[in-house]
Amino acid sequence: MVSIPRLYTTDLEALHHILHNYFDYQKPESTRFALSRLLGNGVLVMEGEHHKFQRRVMNAAFGPTQVKLVIETFYDKSLLLRDLWASRMSDSGGSSSANVEAFDGLTRATLDIIGLAGFGYDFSSLNENKKSELYEAFSVVIKSGSTSAWRILQAQFAPLRILPSFSGPAFKQAKETMARIGNELLAEAKKVQDTTEGKADAGAKDLLSLLIKSNTNSGVPEGQRMSDEDVLAQVPTFLIAGHETTTTSTTWALYNLCLHQDVQAKLREELLNVGTDQPSMEEINTLSYFDHFVHEVLRLYSPIPNTVRVAAKDDVIPLKEGYTDLKGKFHENFLIKKGEGIFIPIYAVNRDKKLWGEDAAEFKPERWEKLPDAVNAVPSVWGNMMTFLGGSRACIGWRFSLIEMKVLLFTLIRAFEFKLAVSEEDVSVLKMGVVLRPVVKGIAQLPLVISPVKDN
Ligand code: HEM
Repeated sequence: MVSIPRLYTTDLEALHHILHNYFDYQKPESTRFALSRLLGNGVLVMEGEHHKFQRRVMNAAFGPTQVKLVIETFYDKSLLLRDLWASRMSDSGGSSSANVEAFDGLTRATLDIIGLAGFGYDFSSLNENKKSELYEAFSVVIKSGSTSAWRILQAQFAPLRILPSFSGPAFKQAKETMARIGNELLAEAKKVQDTTEGKADAGAKDLLSLLIKSNTNSGVPEGQRMSDEDVLAQVPTFLIAGHETTTTSTTWALYNLCLHQDVQAKLREELLNVGTDQPSMEEINTLSYFDHFVHEVLRLYSPIPNTVRVAAKDDVIPLKEGYTDLKGKFHENFLIKKGEGIFIPIYAVNRDKKLWGEDAAEFKPERWEKLPDAVNAVPSVWGNMMTFLGGSRACIGWRFSLIEMKVLLFTLIRAFEFKLAVSEEDVSVLKMGVVLRPVVKGIAQLPLVISPVKDN
């Protein structure tokens, strides 16, 4: 295997330069090849002009107005999870507490949400204790991508790609299932759009439908529209980018409530003061302690702890504070060569004492009442942190994800009190795949004891 040098830096000027010059700093070609084979050419995979063009069409589906359209789906599924967990108490003989596995419950809720709000497909994983046809197919494709030695070799060594990929029958069948269901969803979304064309506020509200609307919008010239194939590639893209990330961050939120019972009590008091089970997006965003709590969870437990880029050309990277090399020579800038890598340390920047202060590693929602000036320089699309990255390739789904997370937490915290069902030392923070998960006994999970909130 060929090794390439990789720059590791928390220098904010360098990170800003890299993330804002995204034509010059791209995702590694091997990652893009592997992902595109599995998922097609979605926005997660594309680079350069093609990415810019896809992203421009897609941005219209991810604005605040669009997120508002799907908040009802967030509530429907959150209330379903709440009722499911409440029923565990009656199942255990009317006892006043029950054991639940939060990671599993939230995985199902967020899968159902991204299915419906993302592309109008009901996985029904909360209702029926089974996986849907689309989810099974998706899992087969993802698993085969990470386990097939031949595919990994082809991703690393481009010349091997002219040879067949020896996909097993299960992989082939799964890809066919994904394509069939994807085409059905696309056809349905187009049909709904045709029948509601010109009627303001009518038609389906899921991301795929909004994307089709934005793509066929009269303002977009014919030659600049996304092909059906590109539109279809966004279905598994939403699944892979938006599902596990939101599950994990919401699970980390519940974990922190268990560790900090005072925060849990204070937060619940704020949430119980709201006079409805389903506040609007604006109302939910005015709850200040809740907002600080969510910020703190996402700062300390960024679901994606790091990402990587590769320099597409020789370049001079500006530095805020130069560096001294092994020979003792001081450099004001860093010279990077085409093909060299960069490790973008999201987790480390979010916890950097130089930025956040000596207590950077502590969980303190109150810090958001007054932030140190230094964090203003963090390249960021939201909250002065790198959790959703910054620059033109920042997470497109950050607004969607934040409201989804808030609706889930709002619903659950008003209904239940939470404690860990295992000791704190039993829960480790482990990177599995690309996501940082809570792990107990080698399995991604968070066993909790829940009891009903007394005054609710
Ligand atoms: C807490 C939840 C989430 C976190 C922490 C998160 C984080 C990120 C990060 C760090 C990236 C940049 C990855 C890279 O370039 O290496 C990213 C990209 C992306 N995210 Fe998210 N994400 C979240 C939720 C979502 C949701 C809900 C969706 C969709 C519904 C979504 C869709 C995307 C897409 C499509 C990209 C690729 C954007 C591009 O390359 O232009 N994400 N996300």
